[in-house]
Amino acid sequence: MSKLKAAIVGITGYTGEELLKILLRHPGVEVSVVAGRSSSENKPVKELYPSIGETSLVCENLDIDSVAKRADVVFLALPHKVSFEIAPKFLEKGARVVDLSADFRLESAEVYEKWYGEKHTAPAHLKKAVYGLPELYRAKIKNASLVANPGCYPTTIILGLLPVLKEGLIDLSSVISDSKSGISGAGRKTVAEYYSSEHPNLRAYNIAGAHRHIPEIEQELSKIVGKDIAITFTPHIFPEERGMLSSIYSNLKKKISTAEAVQLYKEFYSREPFVEVLSEGKLPGIRDVVNTNYCRIGLKVDERTGRLVVISVIDNLLKGASGQAVQNMNIMFGIDEKTGL
Ligand SMILES: NC(=O)c1ccc[n+]([C@@H]2O[C@H](COP(=O)([O-])OP(=O)(O)OC[C@H]3O[C@@H](n4cnc5c(N)ncnc54)[C@H](OP(=O)(O)O)[C@@H]3O)[C@@H](O)[C@H]2O)c1
Repeated sequence: MSKLKAAIVGITGYTGEELLKILLRHPGVEVSVVAGRSSSENKPVKELYPSIGETSLVCENLDIDSVAKRADVVFLALPHKVSFEIAPKFLEKGARVVDLSADFRLESAEVYEKWYGEKHTAPAHLKKAVYGLPELYRAKIKNASLVANPGCYPTTIILGLLPVLKEGLIDLSSVISDSKSGISGAGRKTVAEYYSSEHPNLRAYNIAGAHRHIPEIEQELSKIVGKDIAITFTPHIFPEERGMLSSIYSNLKKKISTAEAVQLYKEFYSREPFVEVLSEGKLPGIRDVVNTNYCRIGLKVDERTGRLVVISVIDNLLKGASGQAVQNMNIMFGIDEKTGL
């Protein structure tokens, strides 16, 4: 069988690099194009990433016509506002697109404009895009031409709450997530600034309803229960390159034991290849997931307060970005979901 041809646009960024690492070892894929801006044009990939292994790929300046002719699937590892200009052009030319930015994750152009401060120039595609969280939308992802790959914080929080939301076990007004991200979560430029100015600092940012992942988290949690949910979300950065940990608190509507809660989560995710629920008494850490596509979840009921505490961890660059993007590609093209991951 001939290999699927994949293009990576945004090859010089963190998620572009991770996509390349995964796709070069994917047995069903040939990376046919890697593209960036003119500053990286003609640069051999081996020069850009000396440890990447054998490849003769050379970075190209993005030419949509030329890339679309040579790719069945295009990964856009670009900043928001850039993707919504480019994705529709690839779709018109018949390529299927996995977009890693936030540009197609929200269903409403008004909500996008409010949180991203920019008028969405491709609002018709917001309705057609499928939110790329396989654990929620696997069937729709299969036939999607445009997959909006989820944000990293939303992945930890949605997966951390999905079983109790489906079972109607928590007070929907009580959800709080205290979440911590490795610094690569903010892209290469911010990382360079962080190392030069404040490493090794741990700090909160964009607190009290200010982070742009909030509408995405609330949109998806609300769709699960069919009612509006508002959450309190406190993001932090911590002084590691990668990894993400969310501690998620919610009030239980009825008394359940930790053993029952763990059992519920284990059963719920029993057929999911990339979500692992730890046994009672065990909690996951960043080291359990870095360099993997897993989301690992540990939980405990606080019997004193009647709260459920869920710890949900991922590698922000893999299950939080490029790993999940390849998982989505596998689903879209009928390849075993775990291939390459
Ligand atoms: N990092 C994460 O953990 C993570 C997780 C989930 C989702 N995401 C999302 O994935 C996307 C990529 O993130 P990243 O961390 O890889 O970012 P990054 O390291 O900053 O890389 C961004 C890439 O986009 C290119 N680019 C920047 N501005 C551009 C423009 N105006 N036109 C064309 N290309 C442009 C950059 O090229 P130059 O090198 O030439 O600047 C670079 O290749 C973002 O939308 C981000 O929100 C990231």
